[in-house]
This record gives sequence, structure tokens and C-alpha cells, in this order.
Amino acid sequence: MEQVTTQGGATGDDTRQPEQDRPWHPHFDLRGRTAIVFGAGSSGSRISNGEAAARAYALAGAAVAAVDVDASEAERVAEEITVSGGVAIAIRADVTDEAQVQDAVRVATVQLGGLDILHNNVGVARRGSVLELGLEAWDASVRLNLTSAYLTARHVLPGMLESGRGAIINVSSTASIRDTGYTYPAYNATKAGVNQLTVSLALTYAARGIRANAVLPGLIDTPLVSQQITSDPDALAARHAASPTGRMGTPWDVANVSVFLASDAASYVNGVCLPVDGGLSARCL
Ligand SMILES: NC(=O)c1ccc[n+]([C@@H]2O[C@H](COP(=O)([O-])OP(=O)(O)OC[C@H]3O[C@@H](n4cnc5c(N)ncnc54)[C@H](O)[C@@H]3O)[C@@H](O)[C@H]2O)c1
Repeated sequence: MEQVTTQGGATGDDTRQPEQDRPWHPHFDLRGRTAIVFGAGSSGSRISNGEAAARAYALAGAAVAAVDVDASEAERVAEEITVSGGVAIAIRADVTDEAQVQDAVRVATVQLGGLDILHNNVGVARRGSVLELGLEAWDASVRLNLTSAYLTARHVLPGMLESGRGAIINVSSTASIRDTGYTYPAYNATKAGVNQLTVSLALTYAARGIRANAVLPGLIDTPLVSQQITSDPDALAARHAASPTGRMGTPWDVANVSVFLASDAASYVNGVCLPVDGGLSARCL
């Protein structure tokens, strides 16, 4: 784990973009807040859920610690933020390693002056039935998708409890509550676990100023997904068509909801597992 950069200055400026181009809603004001985003980079050349979340928090005015196992990705996103006039630091850390998580939280807390928002984005859908998936692969999924959210909460919560405020946003999936047509039991089970970890956190700390909510993205157009299906244009079209809206969601769709959940506009929203899926989970798949 190492801290990479610190620069820039938060403006909270409402006038940077024309209204119709804003990727965030100006009402969800995070000026004066700080956020740590685990998995803030992108696994491809286009914007990911994690990067959109980090940038959206910054656009809403928060100072952001962009954490990624890939140092260059953490740096790239922190730089994107600072170039746009926000405040960001980049930290390299593997979210499955407790010592690295602890150190990342310590550095972010010191550099940003506390942590108000914890955003857990890291997660991978590993395909394979129970018979195909060996114990090692199963354990790796549990550690990456679920234990990571436990570890980050474990190290961010003490600071939040001390300050008496905090918002935790865990990125889950439609696959936590519905069959999505893919055989990935480790993903289904770990994301369902993320939902109930979220609910437990929400109820345990509700009276102490901390809220925890999960976002459940549906079919989102991210680099990870497109890498898996770019070889087949029909598969891409089919993925768009599979959404009730006729199009996949974008990482900004997920990020905007996260900003809302982190903001005071959602101050009475707690323990919710909120689909961001264009209605996918409401439909009989
Ligand atoms: N794309 C979809 O359709 C979809 C649907 C539902 C849920 N999701 C969820 O979205 C999240 C991922 O979205 P994304 O587009 O940002 O993915 P991504 O693959 O682009 O990953 C974001 C970043 O996480 C980093 N990362 C990976 N392992 C890490 C580790 N051990 N420690 C720290 N950082 C690590 C990667 O380096 C990458 O920069 C997952 O939780 C996934 O389950 C996606």
C-alpha cells in the first residue's frame, strides 16, 4: 500500500457544465465531505462503475481517496478529478488484504481529515457451477466480493463512529436477488451476502449517525462486461435488448444513485438494497 498523489482544490462549482450534460444532480451536495472508493479504477479503456463513483462524489464536492490494486488506475482517476478542479488522493491497496485496507484507511483519514463515505465497488462475477468451481476459486470469490466489504467497514467504522456520521454504499448486483441467466453461484451467494452485511451494518449503527445501503446494478455497460462480449456483436445487442429499457445502464447511472445515498438528501434512507437496473429485477426474467 502506498499513497501516490495529493493535489487540487474542491470548488463545489455549479457552473462547470451545462445543465443537460451534468452527470450528477446538483441537489446532492457533498461539499465538505470525504469519500474513500475501493476499486476506483477501471479494468478497461472506458469508464467503470468504480471510476464513475469516484468522479461523481468529487463532482458533488467531496474530497476523494481513489483506492485500487492497480496504482496507475488509482493515480489516473485521482488526476482526472484534480484536473476537473476536485480534491483527490490515489492509494494503492488490495481490498482483500486487511493490512493494506487498514493502511489505506489510515492514509485517507489523515490526508482528507476523516472519512464520511465508504464506497465498496470491488467485485467480480466468476462463472462456473459448484461442480466446476474448486474450493480455491470459491474462497477467492468470497474474499474479493464479500470479505472485502467486511474489512473496509471494520477499518472505516471507528472513525465514522467517532465523528457521529457516515454513509456506507456497497455495490451489489441484481444477481443477489434474481437469477440472471448465468451460472455463477459464488457471485449470487457473495452478492446476497453483501446485501445482508449492508442491512446488518445499517441496523447496528443507525442510532449512531451511520447509514448503510447497497446499490444493485443490473445490466451495466462497463469495460469488464464489454471485454467479455466484444468478440460477439450479437451478444452486445442482446444484452441491451435484455433490459426493459432496451439499453444497458451506464456507470453514471450507478454512480448518481450512490451520490444520492451518500448525501443528506437520503438522510432517512437506511438498510436499503436498491436496484439500479431499468426495471430488470421487477420483471419475471
Ligand atoms: N457491469 C455490470 O453489469 C455490473 C452489474 C452488477 C454489478 N456490478 C458490480 O460492479 C462492480 C465492478 O464494476 P467496475 O465496472 O468498476 O469493475 P472493474 O472491473 O472495472 O473494477 C474496478 C477496479 O477494481 C479494481 N480491483 C480489482 N480487484 C481489486 C482488489 N483486490 N483491490 C482493490 N481494487 C481492485 C480494478 O483494478 C479496477 O480498476 C462489481 O462489484 C460488480 O459486481 C457490475
